[in-house]
Amino acid sequence: MLIRLIYVSKAVDAQTGTLTDSILRKAHAWNTQNAITGVLCEGQGVFLQALEGERGAVTRLYARIAADPRHTALELIHCESISARRYGQWSMARVSLSDVDPQSKIVWPEFDPYSASGAQVMARIDELIAGGQPVPAPSI
Ligand SMILES: Cc1cc2nc3c(=O)[nH]c(=O)nc-3n(C[C@H](O)[C@H](O)[C@H](O)COP(=O)(O)O)c2cc1C
Repeated sequence: MLIRLIYVSKAVDAQTGTLTDSILRKAHAWNTQNAITGVLCEGQGVFLQALEGERGAVTRLYARIAADPRHTALELIHCESISARRYGQWSMARVSLSDVDPQSKIVWPEFDPYSASGAQVMARIDELIAGGQPVPAPSI
């Protein structure tokens, strides 16, 4: 059974390119082997990640990610059974939260993923993908 899970968290340290690269390299290797697809939105101290795949694989991955000391304050936003993947072309795409609109420093704080519904967050992720040119995870 396929599921989609979305969570939000706060980065413990600055969200540098090095941090994101190291996460995405790991993600690409593990996710490819385990048929996980998804999107990692990051910026302004927040991670917002959608994970799709077989329920067991997503559950195991989420448990590992939740134990990662590089972020904190994880909240599960959304989890549902799905018949088709939404982010099927990416082992894990990176989308910057500030790519949507150069002025998103103003826009983003009005959208608080910690108080938004799953539907609102998914709509926001779609906007980010449409406006933010998702970057596929590096394969090496
Ligand atoms: C925000 C965030 C997102 C992550 N996403 C993934 C992912 O999609 N796939 C993955 O394998 N690891 C991901 N990781 C890394 C895992 O948390 C973990 O460090 C990695 O799987 C190595 O686990 P291990 O040290 O137990 O082998 C992510 C980490 C963070 C902080």
